[in-house]
Amino acid sequence: MSHYFTNDKIKSNKKIYCTNICGINIKLYTDNGVFSKSKLDFGTRTLLENLEIQNLKGNILDFGCGIGPIGIYLSLKLNKEIDMIDINKRSISLAKENSILNSAKTNIFESNIYENVNKKYDFIISNPPIRVGNDVLYKILFEAKEHLTKNGELWIVVNKDQGAKTITKKLEQFYIVTIVKKNKGFYVIRCINH
Ligand SMILES: C[S@@+](CC[C@H](N)C(=O)[O-])C[C@H]1O[C@@H](n2cnc3c(N)ncnc32)[C@H](O)[C@@H]1O
Repeated sequence: MSHYFTNDKIKSNKKIYCTNICGINIKLYTDNGVFSKSKLDFGTRTLLENLEIQNLKGNILDFGCGIGPIGIYLSLKLNKEIDMIDINKRSISLAKENSILNSAKTNIFESNIYENVNKKYDFIISNPPIRVGNDVLYKILFEAKEHLTKNGELWIVVNKDQGAKTITKKLEQFYIVTIVKKNKGFYVIRCINH
């Protein structure tokens, strides 16, 4: 079975869609084998609509950027450069193309988990890959701590059907955790690195 996060060799069928996130118009090229394929994911939208945007001071990492909606939106909204990483080569290529298309300021690079990340961030923001399985998922969530400044924040969105409650409990071992929003089963979770 192929997964969007590993399989970037499947036949290309590139398309473009337009979306508006909190007043910012964004155009995104998308393709087979990437997330999300045909429109902005509802979880991603819920996360972006519930970020405390005025508090996002400092540097930001978009973890698992896919085709780029989170990092591109934040760059345009905050007028700053955003670092963005993904394991999937096709996603990285599309995210770079989409960044140029939207005149965003970004630094986009391939990384398996935090392998190529060598600095600390004030914010790590992610719609994390759930289907990678718990080992990789918990590495992403727990090792974020090593890449956050003191009091830095990890913001994620997870659906309750994908284990949001269990994930929240596990995160409480490492962070001060707040569920900022619940919307149609999606939990927006803020984790402070104390
Ligand atoms: C749920 S998608 C979110 C994509 C995009 N941020 C969005 O909101 O539309 C999760 C992303 O994590 C990436 N990913 C999966 N495993 C990863 C890993 N080990 N390291 C880095 N990124 C990974 C996938 O390729 C995918 O693009």
